[in-house]
Amino acid sequence: MADEFDLVVIGAGPGGYVAAIRAAQLGMSVACVEKRAALGGTCLNVGCIPSKALLQSSEKYHEAKAGLGAHGVRLAGVELDLPAMMARKAKVVDDLTKGIAFLFKKNKVAWVPGRARIASPSEVEITDAAGAKRALKTKRILIATGSDSTPLPGVAIDEARIVSSTGALALEAVPGHLVVVGAGYIGLEMGSVWARLGAKVTVVEFLDRIVPGMDGEIAKHFQRVLQKQGFAFKLGTKVLGAKAAAKGVVLDLEQVAGGAREAIEADVVLVAIGRRPHTEGLGLEALGVALDGRGFIQTGEDFQTNVPGIYAIGDVRPGPMLAHKAEDEGVVAVERMAGVRGHVNYDAIPGVVYTAPEVASVGKTEEQLKGEKIEYRVGKFAFLANSRARANGETDGFVKILADAKTDRVLGVHILGADAGTVIHECVVAMEFGGSAEDIARTCHAHPTLNEAVKEAALAVAGRPIHV
Ligand code: FAD
Ligand code: NAI
Repeated sequence: MADEFDLVVIGAGPGGYVAAIRAAQLGMSVACVEKRAALGGTCLNVGCIPSKALLQSSEKYHEAKAGLGAHGVRLAGVELDLPAMMARKAKVVDDLTKGIAFLFKKNKVAWVPGRARIASPSEVEITDAAGAKRALKTKRILIATGSDSTPLPGVAIDEARIVSSTGALALEAVPGHLVVVGAGYIGLEMGSVWARLGAKVTVVEFLDRIVPGMDGEIAKHFQRVLQKQGFAFKLGTKVLGAKAAAKGVVLDLEQVAGGAREAIEADVVLVAIGRRPHTEGLGLEALGVALDGRGFIQTGEDFQTNVPGIYAIGDVRPGPMLAHKAEDEGVVAVERMAGVRGHVNYDAIPGVVYTAPEVASVGKTEEQLKGEKIEYRVGKFAFLANSRARANGETDGFVKILADAKTDRVLGVHILGADAGTVIHECVVAMEFGGSAEDIARTCHAHPTLNEAVKEAALAVAGRPIHV
């Protein structure tokens, strides 16, 4: 393999591997360094993909156990085969990570296994698993080293009884009581997996609401739906510490307001209080690469850091920690290196919590619009009045569209409902094109589809929904 490249990408997550392929398409010679044994980063190995595989499998089990009677389908003797469920998850991950290796070969991206350290803006030093070192010369370096879970002081992760998301994706038995710390994306998705498989789930959250950052009204309804599914919530509560006991774990809790204390027992504790940028060991300090106060790498619009020739994208720089954000930044970063114009529209990045029902969100929340003193109109439509949702027997939730009061431009869309993560994409496209609620309302929507609820919500912005 050559030792000189136009671009060395550090990290083969969705940010890094997509950037490497796009750069190769643009004619650059590219190497991608990855310290994990498989390509795909957090997302494919211990994030998006294994969690979605388990969400799908656990949903099927739960449906077979309790959800099909209403459809006139009777099943007896439904049993959980957890090792088979985990083996399926592992195969999905394995096939997809091998798929990236194939794409690298096809696009002539050199996969360099090992841990990278940046010696200078034109040299990357790599240490492989056996400790052997080599150096690559390069014109540019793209840092795409992602993130790690944030630790909780006083709660030591052992990935057996006190787990991060990685341990929660690989439990060997269904816990009797799972306590989740943090009511965000990971806590509610992994909580759903284990609740469906039979665990009692208690979520402890520091704030007085769940999914902070999402629209408040949607979050309230979402919490109610999860409670109906058996979730218990302890909001406004902090964890002072956790101790492994004879069988499980004892958590010491304190109410944020008032200070009342309580101890609760769990078989397994999942700590999911956010993720932090992974910059350790890259040598950034010596190079003088500027970080922000929270440790994220700072860049300009072209994703270049303050050190010429060194770029950063994905979870390691500020913004939503989402795979598609990392991918889009990777593509724009290398396109701009090649002189192609482009940008990432941070106002139109969808976020989806893949529970059942799903929660999907794009653009501004009502709270943000109020905070920014932007006048807006709201259109809402409940899935209860959508014929396809009725036929499917999935009527929880609603669509909420926020449009500028003067121009009718769509500023935000928030959906709680079955397949919300798929349904929302017509709104993402509308927003990307600067569309109005009227544009969505006048677009022909197939009948019967869940997307008709989007059309009705868009009509409701103008006060003229049909099916209300
Ligand atoms: P990463 O995917 O973290 O990849 C970085 C890679 O860099 C890693 O493979 C790491 O080993 C490597 N690396 C780090 N340092 C070095 C070094 N010095 N040398 C060599 N290699 C190095 N996002 C979604 O959009 N949808 C989801 O459904 C979703 N589900 C998730 C579920 C879970 C449980 C978790 C934890 C995350 C989930 N995410 C999801 C978030 C998503 O995984 C991240 O936003 C995404 O992976 C970020 O991509 P990235 O390329 O920036 O970094
Ligand atoms: P998160 O930021 O989504 O949620 C963390 C939650 O923990 C918040 O509600 C926060 O208020 C709470 N919290 C923080 N400190 C706390 C404390 N000391 N005690 C109790 N609660 C505390 O982070 P999470 O769930 O760990 O996920 C990390 C990131 O990974 C997400 O923000 C998201 O970007 C990404 N992700 C995306 C998924 C998706 O797209 N479907 C799925 C899973 C993760």
